[in-house]
Amino acid sequence: MSNTLPLRFSINGTQRSISVDPRTTLLDALREHLALPGTKKGCDQGQCGACTVHIEGKSVLSCLTLAAQANGKSITTIEGLAQPSGELHAVQQAFLDHDAFQCGYCTPGQIMSAVACIREGHANSDDEIREYMSGNICRCGAYPHIIDAVKQAAQAVKKEQV
Ligand code: FES
Ligand code: FES
Repeated sequence: MSNTLPLRFSINGTQRSISVDPRTTLLDALREHLALPGTKKGCDQGQCGACTVHIEGKSVLSCLTLAAQANGKSITTIEGLAQPSGELHAVQQAFLDHDAFQCGYCTPGQIMSAVACIREGHANSDDEIREYMSGNICRCGAYPHIIDAVKQAAQAVKKEQV
């Protein structure tokens, strides 16, 4: 009776197929259909950034993206950032090193935005980081620590690239 849409994506390097109501957001597809609850829902209206993931390497708000829009694309979520060996991504490690989270609810979105911030070359100064990261709200007030973490991770990424 229900009208479902078959979709297929590469998620964190693995091909996954689901059939969902066409109105399903990518956020709900990840959380409810793909058992990847690391991506969080803070508002469902594009205002908090807790749902930030990457599609084809670009950060997007998954609450404002229909799952259908990501069909055939490559998606990265917080669960896919660490190496398969368990080694943390430089941004994850830096968040730990700098206590850049408290409750942890905004953290997956913060980290995905931070990865994009560094990748897109917007981590050159505190102000630039603050501006780029301003779409990610943290009610625990971890902002100063988040900036420190992004700076450390940007340095670590630079070293790896040399
Ligand atoms: S849940 Fe997507 S921006 Fe808040
Ligand atoms: S760590 Fe709690 S909202 Fe950011």
